[in-house]
Amino acid sequence: MEDVTAAPVAIVTGSASGIGLAAAKFLVGRGYRVMMADWDYDRVVTESAGIGPSTAAIKCDVSSWESQLAAFEKTIELWGRVDVVAANAGIPEQVPLLFETGSTPTKPNTIVVDVDLTGALYSVSLAIYFFRRNEGRGGKIIITSSQVGIHPFPTGPIYGAAKAGTIHLVRSMAPKLAQEKIYLNTFAPGLTISAITAVGESVYPKHIITPMENHMKAIGEFIDKDIFGYVYEVDAGGLHHRKDPEYLSPEHQTWLGAPETQEMWKKAGTLGSANLSG
Ligand SMILES: NC(=O)c1ccc[n+]([C@@H]2O[C@H](COP(=O)([O-])OP(=O)(O)OC[C@H]3O[C@@H](n4cnc5c(N)ncnc54)[C@H](O)[C@@H]3O)[C@@H](O)[C@H]2O)c1
Repeated sequence: MEDVTAAPVAIVTGSASGIGLAAAKFLVGRGYRVMMADWDYDRVVTESAGIGPSTAAIKCDVSSWESQLAAFEKTIELWGRVDVVAANAGIPEQVPLLFETGSTPTKPNTIVVDVDLTGALYSVSLAIYFFRRNEGRGGKIIITSSQVGIHPFPTGPIYGAAKAGTIHLVRSMAPKLAQEKIYLNTFAPGLTISAITAVGESVYPKHIITPMENHMKAIGEFIDKDIFGYVYEVDAGGLHHRKDPEYLSPEHQTWLGAPETQEMWKKAGTLGSANLSG
């Protein structure tokens, strides 16, 4: 293991391409060592070599718990610490599309949920585990969601549901995690030119394209500031914090988020809350 007191360390999933690759370069520019984790091993190795020795590359399928755990363990083995986790890997809507039923019942393809939602929550879980070993320094978790997780997206309803799930994960977990200096936030990109979208670049009107530097602004804020629970919708105009929806009635609904109600959930023994640590 190398010296644990040197540069801070980030893990960026889906960093062989697009937003994750830009994030890896951005973090190296900010003095981080970056573990670049991607299921496209050849590409992530090439990109890591191109950035230089502040990075390492690992093959990782974020939808596999074992694969992500191995990426975190490798990072600890190399550099002894993890300070930032960018849960970025994602894929778009897959066929068959949910709107299509065919002549016989067709099982929907839910791999996008496995990668974009389950993958992100595995990253969150592993980040919490390893940040708790940071001698009180905590750490930062940044999830790449999407504008389609905020607004309806008929073109990709499963993708939209998975991305909405990551936003809700942030809103539900961030306040409690912040108590131990674990700061969880997300940014929700608008249409950005990357491997997912490049094929259609000539078709998109220029004004709907979000420049990559705006996503890096969001990441910069999340690493520079101890903010949490932020949902930054990012478009060509910049960053827009999408706050939690208001309660319909504070009298009847604030129990949803109030920390003091955890005792009630423990007593009720529902929803796994019997295991809450308080
Ligand atoms: N490009 C856009 O318009 C846009 C808009 C909103 C949100 N996003 C989100 O941004 C994130 C990054 O996407 P991008 O636009 O840079 O696309 P991209 O295709 O350029 O990059 C995605 C990377 O994730 C990797 N990946 C995919 N599945 C993986 C898995 N199971 N395990 C590990 N790596 C995996 C790919 O190999 C690729 O390197 C995704 O979560 C995507 O949903 C993109």
